[in-house]
Amino acid sequence: MLNKSQAIYGIIGNPVAHSLSPVMQNTAFKALGVDAVYKLFPLEEEEVKPFFEELKLSDSPIFGLNVTVPYKEKVVEYVDAVTPLAEKLMAINTIVISQDRKLTGYNTDAPGFLTHLTELKVSVAGRRVAILGAGGSARAIIATLCMIPDRPQSIKIYNRTISRVEELLADLGQRMDVSIVEPVRAIDDLDIELSDLLINTTSVGMGKDDVSLVEPELIHSNLFVYDLIYNPTETPLIKIAKSRGVRTANGLGMLYYQGLLSLQHWANMEIDESIRKKMRDSLERGLT
Ligand code: ATR
Repeated sequence: MLNKSQAIYGIIGNPVAHSLSPVMQNTAFKALGVDAVYKLFPLEEEEVKPFFEELKLSDSPIFGLNVTVPYKEKVVEYVDAVTPLAEKLMAINTIVISQDRKLTGYNTDAPGFLTHLTELKVSVAGRRVAILGAGGSARAIIATLCMIPDRPQSIKIYNRTISRVEELLADLGQRMDVSIVEPVRAIDDLDIELSDLLINTTSVGMGKDDVSLVEPELIHSNLFVYDLIYNPTETPLIKIAKSRGVRTANGLGMLYYQGLLSLQHWANMEIDESIRKKMRDSLERGLT
């Protein structure tokens, strides 16, 4: 896969300018010694279809893509095949393009999240999970937690716009059992004080004037606080959790694992530990 001359990989989305994927994947290409480059492809809505039509052309130099907000769901219709997992999620974040220009869609967000939880030694089996948000990132996380064999006991979700949670669950519910998930109308109803894992999937915390959606007194000593935001590395929520002595993680680990898994799909091989380390270090450096 990676041994063609001048192969191009990249990320489509809007916006993509601040993506850390180029630094991570170009670090990997360099370490692997392959003649490939990873680029940003910012696309407006109306540019997506023509972009995919060009991908099908035999002289296209593009052999793999990541897909980010807001196109993860939309591109399902443009690929030739999807993996069973991507089909269940109805969301693609990775596309592999074969020599004969066949496009296969994968989802590495879900396994990326799970692999990060495993690395953190956070077990969700039989636990109570509280989730903030119901956007694209929440989709992968909720679906992952519903599909794994060792499922949580319960997943409560609060979103500012409740209809969005209901739509998400109605959609996922067509292809998986979402009976452990309960949408709630207020943050207080998340029962954070009884939860084991709190996951923020909203964008609240990215802005410099943002304040935590969660009141500090709800953060108890047995809670693990996972904030998908990695820039800033410490959101107000993470700062509060740390000040209360609670274990935390930001989303950099999930970003790393989804990217590693994407690369493994493009390369069709396992990436060895020395290259993995370079990829992860490049992300840390990319943030500073
Ligand atoms: P992503 O793909 O990163 O999840 P998204 O699909 O735009 O991005 O979702 C953003 C999430 O942040 C949504 O859950 C959104 O809530 P709404 O569905 O009500 O819009 C949430 N969000 C963004 N700004 C918010 C705010 N100020 N307060 C509460 N939630 C907010």
